[in-house]
Amino acid sequence: MPAARIYPSLLAADFAHLADSVALVEDVVDGLHVDVMDGHFVPNISFGLSVIEDLRPHTRLFFDTHLMMNNPDFYFEQFKKAGCDMVTVHIEVYPDPVPTAEKARRHGLKFGLTLNPPTPVAAVEPFIEVVDNLLIMSVYPGFGGQEFIPDALPKLERVREIVDSQGLSADIQIDGGITPQTASLARKAGADVFVAGTAIFQAADPVEAVAALRSAVED
Ligand code: DX5
Ligand code: ZN
Repeated sequence: MPAARIYPSLLAADFAHLADSVALVEDVVDGLHVDVMDGHFVPNISFGLSVIEDLRPHTRLFFDTHLMMNNPDFYFEQFKKAGCDMVTVHIEVYPDPVPTAEKARRHGLKFGLTLNPPTPVAAVEPFIEVVDNLLIMSVYPGFGGQEFIPDALPKLERVREIVDSQGLSADIQIDGGITPQTASLARKAGADVFVAGTAIFQAADPVEAVAALRSAVED
């Protein structure tokens, strides 16, 4: 299995001090998970293009952008210009995501697909070969600080089986309720990228929190 990577989720950081929060963990993490919510696809609004653009010069981290929006592809070009490296969209929004993947790549973006807790892996299975990232949601998207839904574990196992048996290279990401305990379960089930918001940015010592997550997912 590929080495484990840890992406803190910006959603749990102090929005008045984003650059400082990111700088604190920059050297110990592998990328930054950037949650964009539109108030339609999910019942919450987070932040948008101008926040991403302003943060971009403050960090060299990979910007993994999770788009909880009804029409994200309309903004791909702008997400690229704002400094995003990858866009991950929901299969519930694009039941046939192949043209969406092509559009993202035309704009120089990596492309990921994700699915809500009730959506079966079968919905994304035909498209795993065209994605750079397959994100299994372990909470209902919209809010940080929720509890991990264990039904995500068999979904991770299934996706890992598909990726490995077909020799694919997609990242297998888990997002929602990640703590050292749930990260360890998710690692055993096949995840290689661990997104954690509350467990990192709400910790008394975010650097120590990343170390705790890392030791939980070490093979
Ligand atoms: C939820 C977001 C997550 C969120 C995770 O809608 O997609 O990325 O930030 O937060 P925690 O780690 O607190 O569950
Ligand atoms: Zn997310």
